[in-house]
Amino acid sequence: MPTRVRAIDLPKVQDERGNLTFVENDQIPFEIRRVYWIYDVPGGQKRGGHAFREQREMIISLSGSFDVVVNDGSTEESFELNRSYYGLYVPNMLWRHMENFSTNAVALVLSSTLYNADDYIHDFGLFKEIIR
Ligand code: TYD
Repeated sequence: MPTRVRAIDLPKVQDERGNLTFVENDQIPFEIRRVYWIYDVPGGQKRGGHAFREQREMIISLSGSFDVVVNDGSTEESFELNRSYYGLYVPNMLWRHMENFSTNAVALVLSSTLYNADDYIHDFGLFKEIIR
């Protein structure tokens, strides 16, 4: 598994009325500054395909399924997210993209930073140079 990526199990409260899951700041290794979600992804499309200098994140599949592919510059690993009580923690300075979105998939991203275009590294060669 690329360094420092890890799965975080979230609480699941189940009763006859359905399920409820929650996340609080102390369950994850950063302070949440921003939340965004990706949805209505046409079949075959990929999202991401970059690294973040600072942004750390937790990615949750709220609905449907998709794969998060993480690359630390030498090792690549794919994680299928298909449960809404399971989060994938992805630290900064890892290359990642998301693919294989099912119909109606909703990817929730909890982020440690506000949006900042300068935080993105869009060039894989540059990413490898920086982490070397
Ligand atoms: P981007 O992060 O590049 O999407 P992805 O990595 O999934 O391909 O964001 C797509 C566009 O949305 C880009 O123009 C920036 C904008 N955006 C914001 O304005 N605020 C945000 O919090 C995010 C995540 C994106």
